[in-house]
Amino acid sequence: MTERAPLTILAIAGSLRDGSLNKAAAAAAVANAPPGITVQLAEIGDIPLYDQDVQDAGFPASVTELGGRIEAADAVLFVTPEYNYSVPGVLKNAIDWVSRLSPQPFAGKAAGIMGVSPGNLGTARAQYHLRQIGVFLDLHFLNRPEVMIGQAGSKFEDGRLTDADTIERIQALLSALGEWSQRLDQTAEAPAGLAAAS
Ligand code: FNR
Repeated sequence: MTERAPLTILAIAGSLRDGSLNKAAAAAAVANAPPGITVQLAEIGDIPLYDQDVQDAGFPASVTELGGRIEAADAVLFVTPEYNYSVPGVLKNAIDWVSRLSPQPFAGKAAGIMGVSPGNLGTARAQYHLRQIGVFLDLHFLNRPEVMIGQAGSKFEDGRLTDADTIERIQALLSALGEWSQRLDQTAEAPAGLAAAS
Protein backbone atom coordinates (compact mmCIF):
# COMPACT_ATOMS: atom_id res chain seq x y z
CA MET A 1 0.00 0.00 0.00
CA THR A 2 1.38 3.44 -0.88
CA GLU A 3 1.74 5.84 2.03
CA ARG A 4 0.11 9.25 1.66
CA ALA A 5 2.52 12.19 2.03
CA PRO A 6 1.76 14.25 5.15
CA LEU A 7 -0.59 17.17 4.58
CA THR A 8 1.14 20.51 5.00
CA ILE A 9 -0.56 23.39 6.80
CA LEU A 10 1.18 26.77 6.63
CA ALA A 11 0.57 28.81 9.79
CA ILE A 12 0.64 32.60 9.32
CA ALA A 13 0.81 34.50 12.61
CA GLY A 14 -0.61 38.01 12.70
CA SER A 15 1.82 39.34 15.31
CA LEU A 16 5.51 40.10 14.90
CA ARG A 17 6.68 40.46 18.49
CA ASP A 18 8.94 37.84 20.05
CA GLY A 19 6.66 37.32 23.06
CA SER A 20 3.51 37.00 20.94
CA LEU A 21 0.80 34.75 22.36
CA ASN A 22 -0.37 34.04 18.82
CA LYS A 23 3.11 32.97 17.74
CA ALA A 24 3.14 30.72 20.82
CA ALA A 25 -0.20 29.23 19.73
CA ALA A 26 1.22 28.67 16.22
CA ALA A 27 4.23 26.95 17.82
CA ALA A 28 1.81 24.75 19.79
CA ALA A 29 0.16 23.77 16.49
CA VAL A 30 3.57 22.76 15.12
CA ALA A 31 4.38 20.73 18.24
CA ASN A 32 0.98 19.05 18.59
CA ALA A 33 0.01 18.36 14.98
CA PRO A 34 -1.97 15.12 14.60
CA PRO A 35 -0.43 12.19 12.71
CA GLY A 36 -0.34 12.81 8.96
CA ILE A 37 -0.22 16.60 9.30
CA THR A 38 2.85 18.85 9.32
CA VAL A 39 2.47 22.48 10.39
CA GLN A 40 5.05 24.97 9.11
CA LEU A 41 5.50 28.59 10.19
CA ALA A 42 5.39 31.45 7.68
CA GLU A 43 7.43 34.64 8.04
CA ILE A 44 5.76 37.99 7.37
CA GLY A 45 8.04 40.32 9.33
CA ASP A 46 10.19 41.21 6.30
CA ILE A 47 7.30 42.24 4.07
CA PRO A 48 7.32 46.01 3.37
CA LEU A 49 4.22 48.18 3.47
CA TYR A 50 2.17 47.67 0.33
CA ASP A 51 3.04 50.21 -2.36
CA GLN A 52 1.99 49.69 -5.97
CA ASP A 53 5.10 51.56 -7.15
CA VAL A 54 7.22 48.90 -5.41
CA GLN A 55 5.07 46.16 -6.94
CA ASP A 56 5.46 47.68 -10.40
CA ALA A 57 9.25 47.67 -9.94
CA GLY A 58 9.14 43.99 -8.94
CA PHE A 59 7.62 41.99 -6.10
CA PRO A 60 9.83 41.84 -3.00
CA ALA A 61 11.41 38.41 -2.42
CA SER A 62 9.62 38.17 0.96
CA VAL A 63 6.27 38.33 -0.88
CA THR A 64 7.07 35.85 -3.66
CA GLU A 65 8.53 33.46 -1.09
CA LEU A 66 5.38 33.62 1.04
CA GLY A 67 3.23 33.19 -2.07
CA GLY A 68 5.21 30.11 -3.05
CA ARG A 69 4.82 28.60 0.39
CA ILE A 70 1.06 29.21 0.35
CA GLU A 71 0.84 27.67 -3.12
CA ALA A 72 2.77 24.59 -1.97
CA ALA A 73 0.74 24.07 1.22
CA ASP A 74 -2.43 22.00 1.39
CA ALA A 75 -4.02 24.61 3.66
CA VAL A 76 -3.23 27.83 5.47
CA LEU A 77 -3.93 28.53 9.14
CA PHE A 78 -4.16 32.14 10.26
CA VAL A 79 -3.19 32.59 13.91
CA THR A 80 -4.07 36.15 14.65
CA PRO A 81 -4.60 38.68 17.40
CA GLU A 82 -7.45 41.17 17.24
CA TYR A 83 -6.48 44.82 16.87
CA ASN A 84 -9.24 47.39 17.33
CA TYR A 85 -11.89 44.75 16.64
CA SER A 86 -10.24 43.69 13.38
CA VAL A 87 -7.27 42.08 11.66
CA PRO A 88 -3.84 43.53 12.59
CA GLY A 89 -2.29 45.74 9.92
CA VAL A 90 0.77 43.53 9.49
CA LEU A 91 -1.40 40.55 8.56
CA LYS A 92 -3.69 42.55 6.27
CA ASN A 93 -0.60 44.04 4.61
CA ALA A 94 0.87 40.57 3.96
CA ILE A 95 -2.47 39.37 2.58
CA ASP A 96 -2.75 42.45 0.35
CA TRP A 97 0.72 41.83 -1.12
CA VAL A 98 0.13 38.13 -1.75
CA SER A 99 -3.25 38.89 -3.32
CA ARG A 100 -1.49 40.78 -6.14
CA LEU A 101 0.54 37.74 -7.22
CA SER A 102 -0.57 35.92 -10.33
CA PRO A 103 -1.77 33.25 -10.06
CA GLN A 104 -3.25 34.37 -6.76
CA PRO A 105 -2.06 31.73 -4.25
CA PHE A 106 -5.03 31.91 -1.86
CA ALA A 107 -7.59 31.14 -4.58
CA GLY A 108 -9.33 27.84 -3.91
CA LYS A 109 -7.14 27.12 -0.88
CA ALA A 110 -8.46 25.56 2.33
CA ALA A 111 -8.02 27.86 5.34
CA GLY A 112 -8.55 27.88 9.08
CA ILE A 113 -8.37 30.53 11.78
CA MET A 114 -7.47 30.62 15.41
CA GLY A 115 -6.51 33.51 17.63
CA VAL A 116 -5.49 34.44 21.14
CA SER A 117 -6.34 37.45 23.26
CA PRO A 118 -6.02 38.30 26.93
CA GLY A 119 -9.71 39.33 26.93
CA ASN A 120 -12.86 37.21 26.92
CA LEU A 121 -13.79 37.05 23.25
CA GLY A 122 -10.60 35.45 21.98
CA THR A 123 -10.37 37.44 18.71
CA ALA A 124 -13.92 36.64 17.57
CA ARG A 125 -14.41 39.99 15.83
CA ALA A 126 -11.08 39.83 14.00
CA GLN A 127 -11.85 36.27 12.88
CA TYR A 128 -15.12 37.31 11.26
CA HIS A 129 -13.40 40.22 9.50
CA LEU A 130 -10.79 37.78 8.20
CA ARG A 131 -13.51 35.50 6.87
CA GLN A 132 -14.95 38.47 4.98
CA ILE A 133 -11.54 39.25 3.44
CA GLY A 134 -11.37 35.61 2.39
CA VAL A 135 -14.44 36.03 0.18
CA PHE A 136 -12.57 38.28 -2.24
CA LEU A 137 -9.50 36.03 -2.09
CA ASP A 138 -11.63 32.93 -2.83
CA LEU A 139 -10.25 31.29 0.31
CA HIS A 140 -12.34 28.37 1.50
CA PHE A 141 -12.53 28.82 5.25
CA LEU A 142 -13.38 25.89 7.47
CA ASN A 143 -16.44 26.80 9.54
CA ARG A 144 -15.88 24.61 12.58
CA PRO A 145 -14.34 24.15 15.05
CA GLU A 146 -13.90 27.81 15.88
CA VAL A 147 -10.83 28.27 18.06
CA MET A 148 -11.05 31.56 19.93
CA ILE A 149 -8.61 31.48 22.81
CA GLY A 150 -9.62 34.08 25.38
CA GLN A 151 -8.33 34.68 28.91
CA ALA A 152 -4.84 33.90 27.66
CA GLY A 153 -3.26 34.90 30.96
CA SER A 154 -4.35 31.57 32.46
CA LYS A 155 -3.37 29.41 29.48
CA PHE A 156 0.24 30.35 28.70
CA GLU A 157 3.32 30.04 30.89
CA ASP A 158 6.80 31.31 30.02
CA GLY A 159 5.77 31.93 26.42
CA ARG A 160 4.30 28.45 25.90
CA LEU A 161 0.70 27.28 25.59
CA THR A 162 0.17 24.96 28.54
CA ASP A 163 -3.62 24.60 28.73
CA ALA A 164 -4.49 20.99 27.80
CA ASP A 165 -8.06 21.76 26.65
CA THR A 166 -6.79 24.48 24.31
CA ILE A 167 -4.14 22.16 22.86
CA GLU A 168 -6.89 19.58 22.20
CA ARG A 169 -9.02 22.23 20.45
CA ILE A 170 -6.06 23.17 18.25
CA GLN A 171 -5.53 19.50 17.36
CA ALA A 172 -9.22 19.17 16.46
CA LEU A 173 -8.94 22.25 14.24
CA LEU A 174 -5.85 20.85 12.48
CA SER A 175 -7.55 17.50 11.87
CA ALA A 176 -10.69 19.17 10.51
CA LEU A 177 -8.62 21.49 8.32
CA GLY A 178 -6.66 18.55 6.91
CA GLU A 179 -9.92 16.73 6.07
CA TRP A 180 -11.38 19.92 4.59
CA SER A 181 -8.37 20.38 2.28
CA GLN A 182 -8.76 16.80 1.05
CA ARG A 183 -12.49 17.28 0.42
CA LEU A 184 -11.75 20.41 -1.61
CA ASP A 185 -9.13 18.50 -3.62
CA GLN A 186 -11.67 15.78 -4.39
CA THR A 187 -14.25 18.38 -5.40
CA ALA A 188 -11.73 19.97 -7.75
CA GLU A 189 -11.10 16.57 -9.35
CA ALA A 190 -14.80 15.60 -9.54
CA PRO A 191 -15.84 17.23 -12.85
CA ALA A 192 -13.26 15.24 -14.86
CA GLY A 193 -14.36 12.02 -13.13
CA LEU A 194 -18.02 12.72 -13.83
CA ALA A 195 -17.27 13.53 -17.46
CA ALA A 196 -15.39 10.24 -17.87
CA ALA A 197 -18.30 8.31 -16.34
CA SER A 198 -20.97 9.79 -18.64
C1 FNR B 1 -4.94 45.24 21.05
N1 FNR B 1 -5.56 44.26 21.82
C2 FNR B 1 -6.89 43.93 21.58
N2 FNR B 1 -7.45 42.82 22.17
C3 FNR B 1 -8.75 42.47 21.85
O1 FNR B 1 -9.23 41.44 22.35
N3 FNR B 1 -9.50 43.24 21.01
C4 FNR B 1 -9.00 44.35 20.41
O2 FNR B 1 -9.69 45.00 19.64
C5 FNR B 1 -7.65 44.73 20.69
N4 FNR B 1 -7.09 45.83 20.11
C6 FNR B 1 -5.73 46.03 20.19
C7 FNR B 1 -5.13 47.01 19.40
C8 FNR B 1 -3.77 47.16 19.42
C9 FNR B 1 -3.12 48.17 18.50
C10 FNR B 1 -2.98 46.36 20.26
C11 FNR B 1 -1.46 46.50 20.28
C12 FNR B 1 -3.55 45.43 21.08
C13 FNR B 1 -4.79 43.48 22.80
C14 FNR B 1 -4.20 42.24 22.15
O3 FNR B 1 -5.18 41.21 22.15
C15 FNR B 1 -2.99 41.76 22.93
O4 FNR B 1 -2.00 42.76 22.92
C16 FNR B 1 -2.42 40.47 22.36
O5 FNR B 1 -1.52 39.92 23.29
C17 FNR B 1 -1.73 40.70 21.02
O6 FNR B 1 -1.37 39.47 20.45
P1 FNR B 1 0.13 38.88 20.53
O7 FNR B 1 1.10 39.94 20.08
O8 FNR B 1 0.36 38.51 21.97
O9 FNR B 1 0.11 37.69 19.65
